[in-house]
Amino acid sequence: MAKHKITLLPGDGIGPEVTAAVVAILECAGVDIEWEKYFVGSEALSRFGDPLPQEVLDSILRNKVALKGPVTTPVGTGFQSINVRLRKTLDLYANLRPVRSQPNIKTRYEDIDLIVVRENTEDLYSGLEHEIVPGIVESIKIITERASTRIAKFAFEYAQTHGRKRVTAVHKANIMKLSDGLFLSCVRKVAEDHPNIVADDRIVDNCCMQLVMNPNQFDMLLLENLYGDIVSDLTAGLVGGLGVVGSANIGENGAVFEAVHGSAPDIAGQNKANPLALLQSAVMMLQHVGEMEAAARVLTAIVKVLGSGPEQRTGDIGGSGNTTDFTAAICNALRKRTRADE
Ligand code: NAI
Repeated sequence: MAKHKITLLPGDGIGPEVTAAVVAILECAGVDIEWEKYFVGSEALSRFGDPLPQEVLDSILRNKVALKGPVTTPVGTGFQSINVRLRKTLDLYANLRPVRSQPNIKTRYEDIDLIVVRENTEDLYSGLEHEIVPGIVESIKIITERASTRIAKFAFEYAQTHGRKRVTAVHKANIMKLSDGLFLSCVRKVAEDHPNIVADDRIVDNCCMQLVMNPNQFDMLLLENLYGDIVSDLTAGLVGGLGVVGSANIGENGAVFEAVHGSAPDIAGQNKANPLALLQSAVMMLQHVGEMEAAARVLTAIVKVLGSGPEQRTGDIGGSGNTTDFTAAICNALRKRTRADE
């Protein structure tokens, strides 16, 4: 029996390409995983009549861990986002995105090391929208004391256990006095229990400007769902874009590890997709299941490969290689390391 049983959702677009690459790399790293693989999204809808079949949810609840590729969401019509449904159904309330500068990925700033924590379950993502009369639509923002306190606890506890010094709550409480005001007051209350962590706050528009002008002033950012969605993409851009950053959705029922980027239909099936973001998520997953040594080896291999020739990197991060080249380079780095260790 394999040491770990993990649910695998390859998704669509570039999803199957990047997940296949990451599965191959984890195998090269010698991690003993049995994957339970399922279709989600339009493929699952046409095969089983549901874009997120119950057996997928059951598998994640059983295994407690899933690795997920991106899934295309129809715009305007069609089924609700699989990502939003997964997060809400499994109550994966914390979205965690470490954002770090990578070797050889040229960006405006160096030495960026930020952690973005986003509340995943409410806000304008509650899906409470209706047409009042033709031409007028209402979309309801829900903020609760329970969810705000829970995400604040997650952020401060993460800061505590990972040696972080400061948590900045990001909001628009000057305008949305009740909703964002509640979020901010919950964060402040939780902060009182963590006197050794500096707690401050920024209005979201100012925060975006500061992130672009002087990102190194921040350590951890704590945001509601919508601001978190937008700001986390901004921070990904600071270190090289959506192909570089990993992400985890964590709750009491389980954890789903996925890349920040979407299904990239413009490059799907062309062997151009960068598996790095999903690989960074997989490293977070290895740490989550206690495979610390394997996670460290994969991280070392990433640094080594990014630090070498452009033929080992994909085009989105300035390389001349493709998905297969990157995957082979990481596997080679892992094998060399293993042989050197023997
Ligand atoms: P996208 O992230 O798919 O693409 C934006 C741009 O980044 C494109 O030019 C794409 O080629 C590039 N890109 C993204 N990932 C890349 C990678 N790994 N390697 C190289 N280049 C990469 O965003 P877009 O176009 O807004 O969304 C496409 C679809 O993905 C939509 O249906 C959207 O709903 C869905 N989506 C799914 C997500 C998920 O499943 N977690 C997250 C975000 C979007």
